[in-house]
Amino acid sequence: MTLVGAFACSHAALMVTRREACDAALQQQVYAAFTQVGERIAELEADVVVVFGTDHGRNFTLEHVPAFTIGIGAVAHGMGDGGLPQIDFPVDQPLAAEMLTGALAADVDLAFSEDMKIDHSFVTPLMLAFSGPRPTVVPVTQNCAIPPRPTMARSFYVGRTLGQIAAASGRRVAVIGTGGLSHWVGSQERRDFMNRPPGTRIGELSQYPVTIADTGSINQDFDRELLSLGEQGRWEEVLRWSPESIESSAGNGAQEIRNWIAAAGFADGAPLKSFVYTPVPEWLTGTAVAEFDLSGQEHSSAAAQPEAAGAR
Ligand SMILES: [Fe+2]
Repeated sequence: MTLVGAFACSHAALMVTRREACDAALQQQVYAAFTQVGERIAELEADVVVVFGTDHGRNFTLEHVPAFTIGIGAVAHGMGDGGLPQIDFPVDQPLAAEMLTGALAADVDLAFSEDMKIDHSFVTPLMLAFSGPRPTVVPVTQNCAIPPRPTMARSFYVGRTLGQIAAASGRRVAVIGTGGLSHWVGSQERRDFMNRPPGTRIGELSQYPVTIADTGSINQDFDRELLSLGEQGRWEEVLRWSPESIESSAGNGAQEIRNWIAAAGFADGAPLKSFVYTPVPEWLTGTAVAEFDLSGQEHSSAAAQPEAAGAR
């Protein structure tokens, strides 16, 4: 097994651009947790970091919305959205190609890009975790933003399949899933528009831009339930959550917990250890940073039976 570390975290460009808007003590806790992720990955001597993140409609708009896309070019280009700097990260191309072809051979049809652009979903945690040399990555986007999205069970299955391929690669691999937790992105009108039936939106997309509020709602109960189930390795219960129930209780932004689920699958259902959780209304999201505990094999039954959960 060459999976040496696994992590999950929230992301928001506002963590950087509105850093000081957050209560100082909380902000320090969150930043310290991201630093801890980078230090752990260095300590574990990972060769490469596989990152599951969201494409927020900047690469893939309604013209073409792939469920899962892997970056296989030499570089992942941080696009500089949300006020973040444009930062490039080197890609482990042999591993990325191996993951792509291995996934296809396992009937998991990934889209791929030889010129991958990554947005704040990737750049925020990588910036905060790595203040020194930039890590080598393999970026994988999920469609968490535009309905209809992949099921939670599918995210787990795709993550698990990629984790098995990466683990057999001989590399020392770490994984990060970045997104959520509870938050509501854009106005009610924008959210209603995006929830229109597929095929009815593209002509009016420009009429419903995303607007960012000064503060946002957060459902701490939802966030703490997710973390609690994760800490118990009870991922099979999370896989049963429907997109509708997630959105009604925790907002459209909570659909990004698919990236946590993909990382959980990559880590074969390992339980979480949370570094920090705090609601930060100024960053518009329930903010968490966690590591998966790879020390034991007391994983959930979902890891053993993804097919039974309808995961393919
Ligand atoms: Fe996001």
